[in-house]
Amino acid sequence: MPAAPKPEILAAFEAAKGFMPTGEGLALYAAAVEAARLGLPLLEVGTYCGRSTLLLADAARQAGVVALTVDHHRGSEEQQPGWEYHDPETVDSELGLMDTLPTFRRTLHRAGLEEHVVALVGRSPQVAKVWGTPLGLVFIDGGHTDEHATADYEGWAPHVAEGGLLLIHDVFPDPVDEFTGQAPYRVHLRALASGAFTEVSATDSLRVLRRTGTGI
Ligand SMILES: C[S@@+](CC[C@H](N)C(=O)[O-])C[C@H]1O[C@@H](n2cnc3c(N)ncnc32)[C@H](O)[C@@H]1O
Repeated sequence: MPAAPKPEILAAFEAAKGFMPTGEGLALYAAAVEAARLGLPLLEVGTYCGRSTLLLADAARQAGVVALTVDHHRGSEEQQPGWEYHDPETVDSELGLMDTLPTFRRTLHRAGLEEHVVALVGRSPQVAKVWGTPLGLVFIDGGHTDEHATADYEGWAPHVAEGGLLLIHDVFPDPVDEFTGQAPYRVHLRALASGAFTEVSATDSLRVLRRTGTGI
């Protein structure tokens, strides 16, 4: 039986602002619990308001590791004003720019998970460039353009430890289903073609891969 979150964690996830459906959240949680057994940090690219972070944080808490989450908190292309996924509540009225950091901090605090998470506020490629620690899990859910998805893969996949997990969100093999582009699908294909990763599971648009070889 895959590990499942306690009802209060699932309730916090479902109440949080964000995009991940419950079915994918359950698959993310089970993967995080498994990966956390390696005793290494779990890292997410794309914090937004902390919906998926809650699940990584709870898995990290149980294993005594830390969850890391990277975001510049200014939103992806499709979340900007005028676009389909824009939420006016995420705009800093003083600056007139999106800022999801305050909502993220409230989400984590309310769930009692603040001390199990380190928020890395910045552009994913810049943070990846200075990163030097192996990771038990990397969850890619940042920008969905080819430029961003490729940079996330090239920046973070090298840090997935042997036996660790690489998760990619919003993988849509059929262009009819996609809503923010097929860049995550292309990254998924690249990871499989590298020979470094083997697919473990697919739940809707979430793919879970394990490092079974070297490189990316
Ligand atoms: C799809 S949302 C993440 C959703 C979140 N995982 C959830 O479950 O609710 C994508 C996030 O990636 C962030 N993002 C996009 N490109 C980025 C980049 N290059 N560096 C850091 N964050 C980025 C955006 O600010 C946005 O908050």
